[in-house]
Amino acid sequence: MTPVDRIEALREEALSAVASADSTSDLETVRVRYLGRSAELTEIKKSIRDLSPEERREVGGAANRATGEIEAALSARLENLAAAEREERLGSEAVDVTLPGVPYPKGSLHPSLRVIDEVVDFFVGLGYRVAEGPEVETDYYNFTALNIPPGHPARGMQDTFFIDEGLVLRTHTSPVQIRTMLFQEPPVYVVCPGRTYRRDSDPTHTPMFNQIEGLAVDRGLNLGHLKGTLAAMARHVFGEDVSVRLRPSYFQFVEPGVELDVSCFACGGSDPNCKVCRGAGWIEMLGAGMVDPAVLTEVGYDPEEYTGFAFGMGPDRMAMVKYGVPDLRLFFEGDLRFLQQF
Ligand code: DAH
Repeated sequence: MTPVDRIEALREEALSAVASADSTSDLETVRVRYLGRSAELTEIKKSIRDLSPEERREVGGAANRATGEIEAALSARLENLAAAEREERLGSEAVDVTLPGVPYPKGSLHPSLRVIDEVVDFFVGLGYRVAEGPEVETDYYNFTALNIPPGHPARGMQDTFFIDEGLVLRTHTSPVQIRTMLFQEPPVYVVCPGRTYRRDSDPTHTPMFNQIEGLAVDRGLNLGHLKGTLAAMARHVFGEDVSVRLRPSYFQFVEPGVELDVSCFACGGSDPNCKVCRGAGWIEMLGAGMVDPAVLTEVGYDPEEYTGFAFGMGPDRMAMVKYGVPDLRLFFEGDLRFLQQF
């Protein structure tokens, strides 16, 4: 076999080895085998110098062409294999961004808390301080100091939970008024949100419910201040268009006592079939009044020098009206399907 024939045979062998290499590392083995330092083709090239000038040209030319072809085939195949291997690696390492993530539950504010926040924010904006008191309250703070003496029929009307001799679950947040006044001198401007309790359960009453008490005591306060303050509060919670009206009422610890109605924020009084006000045009909102001089005297304030107004509202009921919830009991059942709507 002439050297040229041998080169031709090697070239063919190498090209078919390149074609059948199926990984980049296989291909490297092929390269070393046919073009490496101790490859046969390399040996043939080294021996060229021992040949005659004619043979040199012939064998050298064949060897160079074979080398060039093998190199070209190697680099073309290398490109293909590397690309395929990269594809495969990317495929197996890929992050599937369409997979659902780990759910991260997001809380929501309870509808009552939303109203409480709105009311408290409003009064804090006016310079009121937030005051709180205990839910287990003494008979004295819950009743007596508020001008409801032992044996008074108003005690029976409150459906009180009794805990022990002289201890009750507070039936309203009004005792926080007393606690506040006993511990500070006028002027007093406080709002008192908190839980309250009564033995009662139907679509609009739950044994536990929220109240927000408010109290202002200063020189020269009158019913106009009460009405203006509460009108601004109603607009803050129910919208700029609502107005308020006072109706005479009676609570033992205020004189005069009033109830405050808010004009219907849904229909403005124009829809006889309105779901919110049921055609009344007004929504009963809260009880209020001028602090009874007997209460001021009880806490050591001089009723000749100071006057005050007080109010108590039910943020749960306000939230029912505001968000159109028909049954108050839904508020306290902890059903996420209900709560997540807010
Ligand atoms: N404490 C009353 C209740 O729970 C609400 C109330 C009425 C509070 C008039 C007041 C007020 O401060 O002046 O029914």
